[in-house]
Amino acid sequence: MYGKKHFYLPVAVLFLAALQLCLAASCVKTGPCSCKMDDDSGVIDLSPLVNESPTYKDIHATYFPDTWVYSYNPCVPFSEGSCKNVSVCAKARLNHSKYESYGTQESAEFKSDTDVGLVLGYVDSPSYRVGAVELWCVEKNQPQNLTVLGRHPMWPNTIIMALFSPCCCPGAGPNCADATT
Ligand SMILES: *[C@@H]1O[C@H](CO)[C@@H](O)[C@H](O)[C@H]1NC(C)=O
Ligand SMILES: *[C@@H]1O[C@H](CO)[C@@H](O)[C@H](O)[C@H]1NC(C)=O
Ligand SMILES: *[C@@H]1O[C@H](CO)[C@@H](O)[C@H](O)[C@H]1NC(C)=O
Repeated sequence: MYGKKHFYLPVAVLFLAALQLCLAASCVKTGPCSCKMDDDSGVIDLSPLVNESPTYKDIHATYFPDTWVYSYNPCVPFSEGSCKNVSVCAKARLNHSKYESYGTQESAEFKSDTDVGLVLGYVDSPSYRVGAVELWCVEKNQPQNLTVLGRHPMWPNTIIMALFSPCCCPGAGPNCADATT
């Protein structure tokens, strides 16, 4: 279920936003950015990716372009503008004092989906905005990045992102981010 091709993403977006998650092997949360696969394939731990606050900053949506930029930090909370101690924050490009939070680290939940694989979801309270990060396991020699897909027009309160990294592979270990820089 890991490493499916990018053209599955429209399906992924649909499945995700409808929150009709079909169960695949699931991953039991062990920390704000780590979980253990219940099929014994190993632990997924995103903490080796964290290098700044936030690690992924001001990224434009590519799939559903909009007037926002998005920042994401796995594991460690960050603040910018009115986003305080969040994991995901959106900043309006046309109004630099407008920010929206898409959830705290504490709200992190791992969900399994047969089409997407594993999704790390965050929820903001009380707005119920959702930050959803698809975890895509890639080989070490492949490009690593956070791609912001965007907000599906039908589910404007959910920002969907895809994290491509060897750190998204079960059992990757602490050196999984080495090819990042
Ligand atoms: C953010 O976290 C810091 C450190 O835990 C805490 O001191 C601060 O009060 C928090 N701010 C908000 C707005 O929750
Ligand atoms: C920019 O956003 C802030 C915060 O939401 C709001 O108070 C302000 O009115 C906005 N400014 C404009 C020009 O829309
Ligand atoms: C992000 O990484 C994926 C997987 O390695 C790759 O297919 C895609 O082209 C990359 N995107 C960018 C913008 O670099």
